[in-house]
Amino acid sequence: MAWRKVARFDALRDGGVTGVEVEGVPVALFRMGEAVHATHGICTHALAFLKDGYVEDGTIECPLHQGVFDIRTGRALCAPLTKDLATYAARVEAGEVFVDLELSSVQRNLA
Ligand code: FES
Repeated sequence: MAWRKVARFDALRDGGVTGVEVEGVPVALFRMGEAVHATHGICTHALAFLKDGYVEDGTIECPLHQGVFDIRTGRALCAPLTKDLATYAARVEAGEVFVDLELSSVQRNLA
């Protein structure tokens, strides 16, 4: 386990997306009420930062070609996307958000 402190919870807008960098990896943080979800920060279709996308009903719409991912699972939900997005383990403790890049959905799917 390699939990990294990445943000203050109260700095995240509820229902919004925030971009951070964790060990050189761009990560998108999504606050949904009291929960936080984390995904890779770049779209799987081309070079677009999901921090600039649009969050709606548990999904993130890419700002470049409007591909949509499920925030919780990283699943690609529509064209032009053909690849799912990596998700990472995230937790909130004492007002801080922690992310573990080693606990990614890619690795969990291989387990
Ligand atoms: Fe995201 Fe094309 S770059 S849908």
